[in-house]
This record gives sequence, structure tokens and C-alpha cells, in this order.
Amino acid sequence: MIDLFSDTVTRPTPAMRAAMARAEVGDEQRGEDPTTRRLEERAAELLSQETATFLPSATMANAIAIQLFCGPGDEVLSAENGHVLNYEAGGAAVHARASVRSIPTWTGVFGKNAVLQRLRHDTPHAPRPRLVVVENTTNAGGGRPWPVEECDDVLKAAQQNGLRVHLDGSRLFNASVALGLPMQRLGQGFDSVTLCLSKGLGCPVGALLAHRRELTAPVRRLKQLMGGAMRQSGILSAAGLYALEHHLERLAEDHRNAQALFEGLDGLPQLVVEKIPLRTNMVYFEVPDRYSPDRLEQELLSEGVRVSRVHSRRFRAVTHLDIDSAGIDQALKVFRLVCSRL
Ligand SMILES: Cc1ncc(COP(=O)(O)O)c(C=O)c1O
Repeated sequence: MIDLFSDTVTRPTPAMRAAMARAEVGDEQRGEDPTTRRLEERAAELLSQETATFLPSATMANAIAIQLFCGPGDEVLSAENGHVLNYEAGGAAVHARASVRSIPTWTGVFGKNAVLQRLRHDTPHAPRPRLVVVENTTNAGGGRPWPVEECDDVLKAAQQNGLRVHLDGSRLFNASVALGLPMQRLGQGFDSVTLCLSKGLGCPVGALLAHRRELTAPVRRLKQLMGGAMRQSGILSAAGLYALEHHLERLAEDHRNAQALFEGLDGLPQLVVEKIPLRTNMVYFEVPDRYSPDRLEQELLSEGVRVSRVHSRRFRAVTHLDIDSAGIDQALKVFRLVCSRL
């Protein structure tokens, strides 16, 4: 199976498993796991943030960030297709009793004016805007990295008006590689940053929330509250440390594979393939009305290619560690065959 469903399907390599087996461990809940502590320090250093906390998932990292900065009646601003708004089970409302106001943008990127226009007067009637969430790369926006200037402008406009800014950098490594900019540059200035280790990097589990040192106690409390505190998590953190050392530069290969996939699919008359200015590891495409998306999905599967169906006619294919260029060639062969039969 050529599995282009998501970059979350990657499995630990033998070398990563060996690093996991060798990991020094302790009771993480008590702050005694040395490997987890090393990973937290490494992540903070990578992002120019003061410290970081290891967590089971990026969803939990985003949920903790929202709870840090928002309470009942507060408002979170998010791109309308943002992960926090659409795929985290309404977490802002459940955990923080905050509402989420969506910013119209199909790219997932928005400008400072989108933030400025959503500031509100402090009256008893209005929710209080407290937090802006920036997602980089934007998943539903095509795996698109934010242009840095636009991101800087949003950060500045929000913070000058008393809003906090959380970076959902679940795929910030992809943005850094595609833009050719260090992680420090992309993570600096944010009030908190989510990094995910289980997207494209081969780790089985794990995310980090980077933040200021003064937030460590509230973050640890929320982590405990949400059931995210762990015991001998060094086994998982060792996978993370291994990935940070060995699997970051190679993301460029995933981006080249996605570009090759894009070029191959773009030539097929049965598909409308979405173009983006700077590709990372995703290719989105749509099936026009005259063709059956069910048939496309089933036939691809029966020929050994899995993609994800994000809406009735919109599909996503994601390249990652477990797919090489031969896999892309084979996937394109299957696409050509299946499309010719539609
Ligand atoms: C942009 C973004 N943020 C957060 C998450 C949440 O990650 P997880 O499902 O591993 O908790 C995802 C998952 O795909 C994502 O794409």
C-alpha cells in the first residue's frame, strides 16, 4: 500500500526503535525523566522559547495553550479552516468555555487587518478577544507555509492590542525547510508554540508546547488535569530526540516528492489540482461533478493507493518518511490508470 493518507502514518525506523530501547527513563510526572527533560530543552532551544513541555499530542498542546490564555466568555480567533476550530472536538468551548471566531480564508493565512477588524469594545455584551491562533503550515490550506512578513504583522498587531498569539506549529519543521529559515525565526515572539513529533518524523507519539518559564506551573497543572502527565516517557522522547537529529533535513525529500506528485496529477484531465506558491508535503485535488469521487477513492484503494477524502469532492495526498520517489512514480501510474477508467 502506498499510503498518502497523512504524514501521521509514519512508523519508527529500526534506528529510532534502537534509540528508544536505549533511553534512560524516570518518572516524568515527577519531572524525573532525563530523556524527556533533554527533549524539552532541545525543543525550547530550537524555537528560541524559554522552555517546553512534552505532551502526548498536538491536540493537547493546543488545548493547553487555549486554557492558558482564555477563560469563560473569552474569544479565540482562528482561520475558518484551522485545526483548532474544526478538528479538536470543540476543545476551546469544552476546556476553556471560550468561543472561537473564524477568519474567512481558504489558504489558512490571514493578514493583520483580519485581527484588527475583530477587536471589540470592552462592554458587558461582547465576548473578549484574547487569543489568535496561527497555524503554520496550514493543513487545510494546502500545507502552505505562512509568509514570514505576514506572520510578523499578525503577531505585532495582536500583541500591541493585548491579544496573545499561539502558534500551532504542528508542521513548523516543514515550513522551516520549505522557507529555508531556522525554526528560531519562525517560533520567536509567540506566546506559545505547539510542535508535533508524530507528523512525518517517524515518532509514534508526542508533541511539545514551548512557552515562557513563568507558564511552566500552569502548563504542568493543565497537563495533569487533562491526564497528559506520563511516567517513563523517555522511551517516547528518545524517538523525538532521534527525529530532531536525523529526520528534519530529509523533509526536503518529502517536499520534492509532493511536487512530483503535484506535477503528475496536474496533467490528468479528470482532476483539478490545487496550486500553491510554495509546496511542502501536501497535494490537494478535487474531482469535478461529472466524475464519481466514490469510484476514484475505491479504485485507488483497490490498486494500492490510499489518499484522504477531506470533503465530498476534495482529496488530500501527503508525502512522508515512509514514501520514496519510487512510491510516488507507482502512485502516479495508479492514478493514471484509475482516472482513465472514471
Ligand atoms: C495543524 C494541526 N494541528 C494539530 C493537529 C493535532 O495533532 P494530533 O491529532 O496528533 O493531536 C493536527 C493533526 O493532524 C494538525 O494537522
